[in-house]
Amino acid sequence: MVREPPMTTTEWTSIEEVLSGSHTNKPVHIRGWIYRTRSSGNIVFMTLRDVTGVLQTTVKKGNLPDKEFGDATKALIESSVQVTGTVKEDKRAPGGYELQVTNVTIVNFAEPFPITKDQSPEFLLDQRHLWIRSRKMTSILKVRSTVVGAIHAFFRERGFYEFDAPVLQPNQCEGGSTLFEVKYYEEKTFLSQTWQLYAEAGVFSLEKIYNVGPTFRAERSKTSRHLSEFWMAEMEAAWMDLSDIVQIAKDEIRYIVKQVLAHNRKDLEALGQDAAKLERIAAAEFPTITYTDALRVLKEKEGMDIEWGKDLRTIEEDKLMNHFQTPVVVTHYPLEIMAFYKPPDEKDPKTALCFDMLAPEGYGEIIGGSQRSTDIAYMTERLRQMGENVKNYEWYFDLRKFGSVPHAGYGVGVERVVAWICKAENIKDSIPFPRTLLRFRP
Ligand code: 4AD
Ligand code: MG
Repeated sequence: MVREPPMTTTEWTSIEEVLSGSHTNKPVHIRGWIYRTRSSGNIVFMTLRDVTGVLQTTVKKGNLPDKEFGDATKALIESSVQVTGTVKEDKRAPGGYELQVTNVTIVNFAEPFPITKDQSPEFLLDQRHLWIRSRKMTSILKVRSTVVGAIHAFFRERGFYEFDAPVLQPNQCEGGSTLFEVKYYEEKTFLSQTWQLYAEAGVFSLEKIYNVGPTFRAERSKTSRHLSEFWMAEMEAAWMDLSDIVQIAKDEIRYIVKQVLAHNRKDLEALGQDAAKLERIAAAEFPTITYTDALRVLKEKEGMDIEWGKDLRTIEEDKLMNHFQTPVVVTHYPLEIMAFYKPPDEKDPKTALCFDMLAPEGYGEIIGGSQRSTDIAYMTERLRQMGENVKNYEWYFDLRKFGSVPHAGYGVGVERVVAWICKAENIKDSIPFPRTLLRFRP
């Protein structure tokens, strides 16, 4: 075989380009990591990976300098490499192409990689810094990147401004029991449970705003849906009511799914997700039902008798979603079990002007939102009942005193959406370094 002369400035070809067939019988330079390797006598079968895919290479003694061949036989998986070779079509190779190697540079000889086949989930979480390079995690992280990018695009296309709230906040918004306390010089403060209260100030300036940001909750539950640190994508808008934001929420989720379909087909396939199903969802109308309707479905179709006024737990959400193929919006939860800022519906005052969106297939609540109360006396009373120091909310009540307007907003759980779209078994896989009740390392 003729060795190609080295090119003066190296042009790197991605594995995806090689597998597309556009470089067949041509020389290419590829860089990446050894995904698998096996040698037998005078030949090393080295499979390489880069962010775009995996490619089989054949390193034959005599086709490259002896020292380089020796290096190739010694290099373990996860060694970083740069190779030069000729692309050949080969039906037996995964992806249909292989590279016949003429040069190998081992950039770093990896030590024996601690992750081998069939490791326990806990071991993989201990090795998270190494596990995120797995094919599965790479696919999920690509989808996550698309999801977050889609959220920014969705709101910006609709004239929303990005608005940032502080992460250190003196108030609770979603209940005191899940606050993370932080020492703040001589005082104490909390990590953000939501961007919302500050967003309610922001709408008086920018009217329509959104944000994607880190959110913290000291959740006591060890479920496959709860993280202690997660990313919430929130929106808030002046002059909007419940039906306005429910429509935006449905459009947003369909938009996200469409973007993933446009950019991540291969990832969905690698993750075992059915793209045709997601296509149907992206084109569907999502139903809106009330909490009371939901109890009726549970009673009639599942034989579950839930007392009116009780929140829907995971088990009830899952049973309810057995009867839907798309996300569903549930509105008008009982006022009493809702956060202090959700207003009663005048037409049915024991219910709140709020909604949750539930995902199908057991992924649970992906969105929570509501219209916001503008009634200072009502909110003061609710906060008192919860044992809150109302003084801390005076700044928030100011917003009802200086040009108050009807307004509403919601928050999307980014990891819940990613887990649902990727068909992940656990929400932990939809964030690079999960924090849970039991884990904040590595
Ligand atoms: O329903 P939540 O608590 O709503 C709020 O925080 C509102 N203040 C949002 C708003 O109106 N601006 O949280 C919103 C979403 C949930 O529907 C869920 O998808 C996600 O955030 N979420 C979590 N995701 C992962 N781990 C947790 N511990 C979560 N808690 C909530
Ligand atoms: Mg909620």
